[in-house]
Amino acid sequence: MIDALRITLPAEDDFEAWRDAARGLAESGVPAHAVVWTVAGGEPDLFGGDTPPPPPGPSFAVPRSFVDLAKSAICHTDRERFSLLYALLLKLRSNKQALEDRADPLVHRIERLAKEVRRDVHKMHAFVRFREIEEDGDSRFIAWFEPDHYIVRQTAGFFMRRFTTMRWSILTPALCIHWDGETLSESPGAERAGTPQGDPVEETWKTYYASIFNPARVKIKAMTKEMPKKYWKNMPETALIAGLIAGAQKREAAMIERSEAMPKPTRNIAASWAALREEAAHCTRCELYQCASQTVFGEGPLNARIIFVGEQPGDQEDLAGRPFVGPAGQIFDTALEEAGIVRSTTYVTNAVKHFKFVLRGKKRIHARPDTGEIDACRWWQEQERRLIQPAVTVALGATAARSLTGKTLTISRMRTTPLTLADGSECWVTVHPSFLLRIPEQERRAEERALFVRDLTRIRERVELLT
Ligand code: URA
Repeated sequence: MIDALRITLPAEDDFEAWRDAARGLAESGVPAHAVVWTVAGGEPDLFGGDTPPPPPGPSFAVPRSFVDLAKSAICHTDRERFSLLYALLLKLRSNKQALEDRADPLVHRIERLAKEVRRDVHKMHAFVRFREIEEDGDSRFIAWFEPDHYIVRQTAGFFMRRFTTMRWSILTPALCIHWDGETLSESPGAERAGTPQGDPVEETWKTYYASIFNPARVKIKAMTKEMPKKYWKNMPETALIAGLIAGAQKREAAMIERSEAMPKPTRNIAASWAALREEAAHCTRCELYQCASQTVFGEGPLNARIIFVGEQPGDQEDLAGRPFVGPAGQIFDTALEEAGIVRSTTYVTNAVKHFKFVLRGKKRIHARPDTGEIDACRWWQEQERRLIQPAVTVALGATAARSLTGKTLTISRMRTTPLTLADGSECWVTVHPSFLLRIPEQERRAEERALFVRDLTRIRERVELLT
């Protein structure tokens, strides 16, 4: 019989300290009920110091998914989290597959803790709002935030990357973090009364928010679920929401109205387009027709003001015969919505109109078209644009940019200013939605997606100006 062991961790969110202690205990075979976990500076020390653990037995490996799960769950405010995680670690010691058992109440509970923490992190990324103060003749940006869990250290990297050149502090009741452009420091928790309220930055922020606000996203129920009222008091823009909803719905209606007011394509144009589409259905300009199911031609109104050019159809597009209906299409659709662009008012096509793939087992895996294939297919895209004569053509990614300009362009350098195409029309270049799908890190993906939406918003504003 082993006496209860007391383990004191240096901080509430100290995964490394928990891991080191838990590993030693588990290797020694100490059962979960025999360990009392505490945090330094927490409750008064009624039991004296920590008990040294018994000598360790053989070491064992745990799956990476457990480490990820534990790193999140450890930040939860549930006081039992350390011992729950330790109990799961012991299970993994005797059964490597223990984590797969979703019916196990222990696995289920820890997954719930981790999920709640991840949600809190997401909220903090989205709802921290800085206010500017003057400090030693320079600016410092201060934000007040009340997370539900111990996530401040976990989110610091996100704010350092996002606001690298700013000097900022995020104050929370449990812990404050400070960034001076080079180093991150910490201080004990603060009180809301100490944070500045209202300043010129607030005005800038409100103006910015008003300019990016999009009605398509305003689903009141979803909004209050995503942005719980408890965060509203720290967010200047929430005062604007009612007015913006009305204004934004008007903007979407205006876009549809403007598109309906555009001269209808003449019968000639409609007939020419139908003939072109039919001709493309039998295209043999390159080899790709041999393996693809069908030609995926462009679609959309022939009086569209914007033409989007993608790369080539994917697996689902090849089967459906329509562009951007698969996973990349879903990202494209939601980004368009956020940018205030109504897809049904635009024409969407691809630089290459047959699906190029390699077979891996039964799966057809996308293969990038080469320059010969892009150049062979260019003719179709040029004919589509000649008939539609859009105000703006948008190249989604490098293949589309190559098809439209004949050059290999670097997207990051080209995405802020329009190019002039050979026919004198305007072309904007941005990333391909699949690029976002391929970014494994959630934070970077969110950042790149925001840039994509920013590009699309800029394009919408430009088209509004031109038409
Ligand atoms: N990617 C593209 O470029 N086009 C599509 O239609 C689908 C995915």
